[in-house]
Amino acid sequence: HRHLLGVAGLSPADIKGLLASAEDAVSLSRQVEKKSATLRGRTQINLFFENSTRTQSSFEIAGKRLGADVMNMAVGNSSIKKGETLLDTAATLNAMRPDIIVVRHHAAGAVALLAQKVDCSVVNAGDGAHEHPTQALLDALTITRAKGRIEGLVVAICGDVLHSRVARSNILLLNALGARVRVIAPSTLLPADVERLGVTVFRDMRRGLEGVDVVMMLRLQLERMNGSFVPSVKEYFKHFGLDDAKLAYAKPDAVVMHPGPMNRGVEIASDVADGPRSLIRDQVEMGVAVRMAVLETLGRRLPNAA
Ligand code: CP
Repeated sequence: HRHLLGVAGLSPADIKGLLASAEDAVSLSRQVEKKSATLRGRTQINLFFENSTRTQSSFEIAGKRLGADVMNMAVGNSSIKKGETLLDTAATLNAMRPDIIVVRHHAAGAVALLAQKVDCSVVNAGDGAHEHPTQALLDALTITRAKGRIEGLVVAICGDVLHSRVARSNILLLNALGARVRVIAPSTLLPADVERLGVTVFRDMRRGLEGVDVVMMLRLQLERMNGSFVPSVKEYFKHFGLDDAKLAYAKPDAVVMHPGPMNRGVEIASDVADGPRSLIRDQVEMGVAVRMAVLETLGRRLPNAA
């Protein structure tokens, strides 16, 4: 593949290959000297039209650890603010001869569109409610390291599935690797066609969490709710917030995940987020490793790659 636009374009073998190279990146990242020369001389541009803490910083660290020159485009200070379009911005950056552009955009499909207009590799760092493939890969790596496998595990994805590219990419990836995926959410926060993605739907946390190995919480994305359905935060936490009482329905060794950013006291209680079963910090560490694996894999396809 020249680009990474979504989990939908990956085979189980592609996914396993990326996870294996991410394991090597974890080892490199835990050394005192963290740098390799895999992408030396290459230029990576991070183009984020939406806010990000984890994804942007980990793509920057990942590129630098592989020896690339990384430029973070400050969209807020750019000529996009003067009305320059996405495609004109892409053509402008393309003329600077980057090797890889990492893009986050609020519109589903915008990253794929941009990929058609540039000569370099493009990585989707999140497009609207469509896909966030590196998040699903880092979640898979985190689960594999904690549980030793993905196949056969029962994973519950809970909360605002409707607005979540993280949920969509995770459902695709977990199904591809043989997990059994549940979603738990109120009907108002479920896409109409969610069952077609290969999940079992629950509308009650206690029932949905019974016997699960992995509990993945999602952020309530209030900024994407245009007044249509905005739940009361207090009511939402009561019914769908993960606290110790609801977590008790999962397997005794179940682990808890959240892609971040978290709304503490909205979808997850602080006791659980910071508790012994939380893998939230591991997810962040694995984020750097997975992004190194993705950049390295795409880098092998670049012209004149070693
Ligand atoms: N999980 C995730 O994508 O976080 P950021 O929005 O901070 O990048």
